[in-house]
Amino acid sequence: MMVAAAVEPHLFVILGATGDLTRRKLLPAVYRLTQQGALSTGFRLLGVARDRDLDDALYRRWAHEALREAGIPDQESEPWCEDFLLYQCVDDGGGFEELARRIEAVEEEVGLPGNRLFYLALPPRVFATALEALAAAGLDRSPGWCRLVIEKPFGDDLGSAEALNRLVHRWFDESQIYRIDHYLGKETVQNLLVFRFANAMFESLWNRNHIDNVQITVAESIGVGDRVGYYDGVGALRDMVQNHLTQLAALVAMEVPSAYDASSVRNEKIKVLRSIRAPEPADVVFGQYTAGSSEGVEVVGYRTEASAESRTETFVSLKLAIENWRWQGVPFFLRTGKRLEKRLTEIAITFRRPPVSLFESMDGVRPDHDVLLITLQPDEGFSLLFDLKRPGEPLTIEKKALTFSYEEAFGALSDAYVTLLLDVLTGDQTLFVHAEEAEAAWRLYTPLLERNIHVFDYPAGSWGPRESEQLLALDGLLWRTP
Ligand code: BG6
Repeated sequence: MMVAAAVEPHLFVILGATGDLTRRKLLPAVYRLTQQGALSTGFRLLGVARDRDLDDALYRRWAHEALREAGIPDQESEPWCEDFLLYQCVDDGGGFEELARRIEAVEEEVGLPGNRLFYLALPPRVFATALEALAAAGLDRSPGWCRLVIEKPFGDDLGSAEALNRLVHRWFDESQIYRIDHYLGKETVQNLLVFRFANAMFESLWNRNHIDNVQITVAESIGVGDRVGYYDGVGALRDMVQNHLTQLAALVAMEVPSAYDASSVRNEKIKVLRSIRAPEPADVVFGQYTAGSSEGVEVVGYRTEASAESRTETFVSLKLAIENWRWQGVPFFLRTGKRLEKRLTEIAITFRRPPVSLFESMDGVRPDHDVLLITLQPDEGFSLLFDLKRPGEPLTIEKKALTFSYEEAFGALSDAYVTLLLDVLTGDQTLFVHAEEAEAAWRLYTPLLERNIHVFDYPAGSWGPRESEQLLALDGLLWRTP
């Protein structure tokens, strides 16, 4: 988010208005934006879905339930749904002409200037059909601005991402397209740019001369559960690594942009993604969870949830080499998995040790690397781990942390969707993925998808297969956690 620009009156159209994403994330986020005063009364939310039995009144009731699940009190959400929500049915055979007529009628009745946002909260297999239907009904043009939001996954390999980009570009210019990666809406992720580029102290150390290695962990304790229908055959490389983890790596590694605006920031991310060497099978470990104990509860293995033959990976760890002047020789390790020991998202920047180890020869003294930990989950914040002398004799060195917690300093943080939706509504593309960025990330991993990578078992509640430790051991390193 750049600066808080005003949101112009608009119509917010959600395609997939009865889906899980709308229920859990979009409706609560739009509601919170209204409460924060970011949306004037000059907006309406038009939910679009295939459900013929719904009308405005029934959709409001459904939305009201969704807001209740999100912890929003009834007395606040009921009038909001009444004032702002509308519903329109479309189905496979069409209905988009009718949708176009309804949009015009609502705009006329409310006095909206024709600014439209189309949010595709749809499964990827129907993206193309929905886009074609929107365009055929003339909804790719509008009297005001017209923006399109697309959820991940954006393709499932390089070829399909390129095809999807070509399709979207038939009707929409890149400046109208907002590809969402919700990690980019998290405060700490945005703060990475401020942290790096507003503090000369860190930026001067941010290179191969001072940094030994970078580890990015996105660990989840949950399993795949009822998302197995989507997840099986997709796997962690596509679901998490190609997007969320690679975005984090790009933000850590990118060069200083020439300005703090969408095109400068996105250009730098594209540049650094292009300088990463595509990992070889030897740089990658795939895993799949078996039965075990997760946070004190006995859980079944992935193959019981999916199928006995499934070889879909629920864990990936890999090593990336960034071949540019800043990072040559500094390995970036990425790791993500379901049913790991705990929920933890963290970026660990390990600095080189001092060139001369003054204290090494003393008994009981083990100076270690300084580490900057950037934590995104469960608590957003930073810790700088460094060595200091423990009081008293003999001389003993101990690792201590300087810490900063967002919540302690600023209270509870907004959900990433609140941030991202406000950015779409104010036309700020900085935190959205450019077409070339999506393709550059797929270019890195598509060769792996074409290989038959062995999938190792790991017990639920662990930190993944043992082979993941060995990947780092080759560089004489250990994962920072456990
Ligand atoms: C989604 C993935 O993009 O991110 C899910 O599809 C994953 O599999 C989720 O659980 C994790 O998001 P967060 O914000 O909870 O870390």
